[in-house]
Amino acid sequence: MSVFSQKICLKNRIDVAKFASNVITDQLSVDENSVLGLATGSTPEQTYRELVKKHISGQNSWSQVRTVNLDEYYGLDRNNPQSYHHYMHVHLFNHVDIPECNTLIPDGTTSDPVAEARDYEQKIVALGGIDLWLIGIGSNGHIAFNEPGSSRDSRTRLVRLSNKTISDNSRLFEKKADVPTQALTAGIATILEAKKILLIATGKNKSAAINAALNNPIGPDCPASFLRLHPNCMFVVDEAAARGCRNNFR
Ligand code: PGA
Repeated sequence: MSVFSQKICLKNRIDVAKFASNVITDQLSVDENSVLGLATGSTPEQTYRELVKKHISGQNSWSQVRTVNLDEYYGLDRNNPQSYHHYMHVHLFNHVDIPECNTLIPDGTTSDPVAEARDYEQKIVALGGIDLWLIGIGSNGHIAFNEPGSSRDSRTRLVRLSNKTISDNSRLFEKKADVPTQALTAGIATILEAKKILLIATGKNKSAAINAALNNPIGPDCPASFLRLHPNCMFVVDEAAARGCRNNFR
């Protein structure tokens, strides 16, 4: 097993964020031209804060980095405050020296999602693939917006969000009816092609999903379980998220 495939449990979400920001900063110091896969959601917010702190203190440079995001809500304009375009600018891009043209996020307003998805896959290939993909996990075991039922071979595509995801994410919207019902998401195969994957999870509402990802049979019931097929996938979680399966972690 590679060192990168370890499963690590840390005390709390701050420690998880510090750890993740160290892994990403190490990646950028080994290769300043890295292609980084990025995630949105509440979990990585603290990791981005730590990365910005490191940037301000001169520990990482993003001037040559290219980034690829996991997903975007379908139907939301990039300027919509709930869009993942907006999220990435607020939490990371506006605070580091990354050129806008080096960032890639699916276009949630495209009228041709099939072409957008195909182009997205081609753009990732043209970048030479993803060196390190930071990802989260949904309380239902989704990765990106690959909901339960997604196949190992899935690629970037338009998907319908599960009721669980809509209700989980409604906390960020004024009302549940405002949550988009569809999204453009990288597929499981897209994610598994990254050279390294760093999954982070914090809080007790992730413990069932982490347990299923690590211990249930690998398959579409828990999309995150497919990560066990990857030779360089690190799970970094806090104590609350590891509660259901402490023995899986060191
Ligand atoms: P969260 O989302 O960080 O907001 O919990 C994670 C995910 O759905 O992948």
